[in-house]
Amino acid sequence: MNPNPQIIVLDAGGQYCHLIARKVRDLGVYAEVRASETPAAELAQARGIIISGGPSSVYDPESPTVDPAIFGTGQPVLGICYGQQLMAHLLGGKVRKGDKGEYGLATVQLDATADPMFTGLAGLQQVWMSHRDVVERLPPGFSATGRTGTCAVAAIAAPERKLYAVQFHLEVVHTTRGREYLSNFVYGVCACAQDWDARHRAPVIEQEIRESVGDRNVFFFVSGGVDSSVAFALCTRALGPERVRGVYVDTGLMREGETEYVSRLPGLTVEHAQEQFLGALQSVTDPEKKRHIIGEEFVRVQERIIDSYGLLDGHWILGQGTIYPDTIESGGTAKAALIKTHHNRVAGIQRLMAAGRIVEPLKSFYKDEVRQVGRELNLPAELLDRHPFPGPGLAIRCLCADVEEPLTETEDGTLIPVHSVGVQGDSRTYAPVLAIDSMDHARATALINRLSNVNRVICDVESHEPLEQMRVYAGSLTPERIGRLRCADAIVRRLSHESGYDQKVWQFPVILIPLGTEDARDSAVLRPVDSVDGMTAQSVTMELELLERICREVLEIPGIAGVFYDLTHKPPGTIEWE
Ligand code: XMP
Repeated sequence: MNPNPQIIVLDAGGQYCHLIARKVRDLGVYAEVRASETPAAELAQARGIIISGGPSSVYDPESPTVDPAIFGTGQPVLGICYGQQLMAHLLGGKVRKGDKGEYGLATVQLDATADPMFTGLAGLQQVWMSHRDVVERLPPGFSATGRTGTCAVAAIAAPERKLYAVQFHLEVVHTTRGREYLSNFVYGVCACAQDWDARHRAPVIEQEIRESVGDRNVFFFVSGGVDSSVAFALCTRALGPERVRGVYVDTGLMREGETEYVSRLPGLTVEHAQEQFLGALQSVTDPEKKRHIIGEEFVRVQERIIDSYGLLDGHWILGQGTIYPDTIESGGTAKAALIKTHHNRVAGIQRLMAAGRIVEPLKSFYKDEVRQVGRELNLPAELLDRHPFPGPGLAIRCLCADVEEPLTETEDGTLIPVHSVGVQGDSRTYAPVLAIDSMDHARATALINRLSNVNRVICDVESHEPLEQMRVYAGSLTPERIGRLRCADAIVRRLSHESGYDQKVWQFPVILIPLGTEDARDSAVLRPVDSVDGMTAQSVTMELELLERICREVLEIPGIAGVFYDLTHKPPGTIEWE
């Protein structure tokens, strides 16, 4: 049984909204998320309120708002990003569109004050920004307590009314002192008491599984990844092996050797469905359509299996390894902007959910917490430490194009007309990619902030022909292209494992883009990233020797024209290219 929330996070539609609540829980204080417009009277029990970020502009007619009465109850309120702009807007300040965006790392100068919100935090510090709108004029009674080179109002305060706000995202790990800000607010300003400990959760989750499943049995699709394996193990422990059945579906979109690896795990059977998936995806190029088709095919396979196993008597429900970010990025909260459609949330699955026939034991957990639960269950470290691999598999790492198109030379680099997905200011963007000739992350970040028509910058590392002789070719999810990507991915995985590099990065996707020459129509993009939970990520460098070995081997794959390196942090570029 959960305690009453001491902190309530009002959801203004930002993808990091739940992350705020989770970070508060990490501090030992129970927090919950509510719709932004929740009336002040319903928040009266909380010791403090936090307003999340969000993709809107406060001056848009349909933008999320909060009950202005929350600012007059004496309860402390902290606004984050859009939350700062909303607080300023509602209390008589002015917000306007900034001259340029500020996405990614920034340095804040915070003033020295005696206020408990900012205790011990004065000085220069690294923060994470994702905004374009700025507070131009402060509301009466507020002062600006922090600024960056781009943003004159990065922190504001009206201490006697216990109202505070910051433009930066203090909830993400790249804001190095974010935890201290949150702790100052939760303990220093709101005087919360410790009432929450997320460790030793396995027995609690198992009890929840028994309660929600009742006397039914659970059927699981297990991908071999951390999430579904831990969820499967939890259900097996909670219900006993005879009531839980696991099937691994080989979609034809898996990595090399994956099916062999997974079929060695205990309690699983393998269903071969390569032709079904690749057939349904034939000539599809649109990223959202790919995801929908894969999700629907999963449901079809599931229905077929349930049918053939005779599981249609209503005594079976579907188990899933969905974790928190999966629900958030699909708009799982009231107003969260649609970043992408997660394959666990397509229509067929939603119907099962509505019918109460889904159990998702990990849906309020983050990746690092899932690993912690897995350790409690004594699952092997080799399994728990695997890099995350997306459910839709290589399909979302194989970019497609409808028509052949030339590249465009600009003074900043070469514009490649493929459309990769990104998150800029919390909303989804599809934009072309800019190729530059140096491994310069700072230059890449500056370019993305300045250029509104690109959301990703890559470095041209090595190719058979110079970039100016390449073009984008029409290409869909053919077995040939998937095979090419699988081969490049296997080389990268082998070499990064041999060199120990895979231990240094959080995830290392390889992406195939339809860029090349008449004889070799694709290129590989390397995307090693550092992250804690996948919500934000930093593009990282690698040793030259490893990069050279990867290039040498990948360029030997027939059909591969070049090797590129993604220099884009998240935001503005998601980890996957879709
Ligand atoms: P993005 O691309 O949104 O990815 O920055 C964040 C993390 O989520 C993983 N990912 C998925 N995992 N099913 C999954 O199980 C999916 O549909 C999916 N899409 C993205 C991605 O690999 C990264 O770790």
